[in-house]
Amino acid sequence: MIDFSHLSNAHRRAVEIVRDVAREENCRPYLVGGPVRDVLLGRSAVDIDITVERDSSTLARAVAKRIGGRVKSFPQFLTYKVTADQMPEIDIATARKEKYRTPGALPSVASGNLRDDLLRRDFSINAIAVDLIDAELHDPTHGQRDLENRLVRVLHDRSFADDPTRIYRGIRLATRLGFAIEPQTAALMRKAIDSGALESISKERIWHELFMAMDESDAATILTAFSREGALDVLFGRRTADPSLLEIVRRLVTANPELDAYVLYTSALLRGDASPIDLEGSGFSQKRARNVVQIANELGRFADALSEAKSERHRLRVLKHASPELLSVLAATQPEEQPHLERFREFKTFSIPLRGNDIELPPGPHISRAIERTREAVFTGEIPPEEARSFAQQIAQKYFERSQAAGHRIEN
Ligand code: CTP
Repeated sequence: MIDFSHLSNAHRRAVEIVRDVAREENCRPYLVGGPVRDVLLGRSAVDIDITVERDSSTLARAVAKRIGGRVKSFPQFLTYKVTADQMPEIDIATARKEKYRTPGALPSVASGNLRDDLLRRDFSINAIAVDLIDAELHDPTHGQRDLENRLVRVLHDRSFADDPTRIYRGIRLATRLGFAIEPQTAALMRKAIDSGALESISKERIWHELFMAMDESDAATILTAFSREGALDVLFGRRTADPSLLEIVRRLVTANPELDAYVLYTSALLRGDASPIDLEGSGFSQKRARNVVQIANELGRFADALSEAKSERHRLRVLKHASPELLSVLAATQPEEQPHLERFREFKTFSIPLRGNDIELPPGPHISRAIERTREAVFTGEIPPEEARSFAQQIAQKYFERSQAAGHRIEN
């Protein structure tokens, strides 16, 4: 008898609703894959994955109706996703067979029975099903034995060639669960990487796997393993990731969830020899890509500019160009910059009681620039606070005249 007591209340309720609705609709739902693995390990599950041999659409709609949720359908995968507030996502799929015509390409899908559906999966520990009507366990590939022995094992020798993303999934799963990769599986993984299997999948799919790894709490260990196994060469060429830098990033993003973890981990993977960086397939905006390159290739130059700054005002200027991510890496890797970064943090929230209206000049960018210049001057002690207003007036006048002169030059 499977023990659902580790599931959260919401997950248990979702399972019970699927079972009750299925009884009414006269169909047979199986809980499969990740949630079964997690329940058997006494871990909490994320999604609820259900497989039925027929009537998936009827069941999905009836479940959605019962919980006041919505149904989204993915016909190419014979799958329905049911979502509702305060409920985990419930995926309801028709049991299917998959055929990989070309290695690395997405498989062609046809409906099948439960056994077909379990045998098409990536690892034995993900190929166990529980019948929600009679609570019977279906484990045709001995996944429970592998759970006991703490092993990630593929179901057949072509698994990684058929779907090379399983290389990343296997390492991610083994690290998350603290499992080993079973020796024969490890040998097949090695062979697939060495024979260039990863070149048969798109860069977008590889980046997707990388981002999923970066979402894990032990991302540093997973990314180190990807790099060690050569599974990142297909994106970045041969580089060796620095595990201690990845660990620094892990601590930074755990303590500061507002930081861009994908940017930070990517830059840590690429940190090193300042060779050109190719982020094709990552979907990073130009701004985020620039941020990656800055941290990966220009941190040293940035630290030099800081130490060469002739005054505190110049140092603040340098720091203003840094992203929060770059600042966080700088603080974590260059302890001698700590006092400067602390001063910069104070500067960011420092304000002076001066507004645009206080300056007697026509409006324009010279006003805000002069106020910012005055804020720097007061903060660094260049002028006493009581002189702020006259200083700002004077500076704004200078900027204004410069812009007028530039305007005339352009007109002439
Ligand atoms: N699966 C597979 N091959 C893949 C991707 C998925 O065989 N390349 C199967 C696995 O059986 C997996 C299930 O589809 O358990 C669902 O996939 P996914 O939601 O990605 O994985 P989970 O095991 O649920 O993992 P997680 O806990 O990370 O959500």
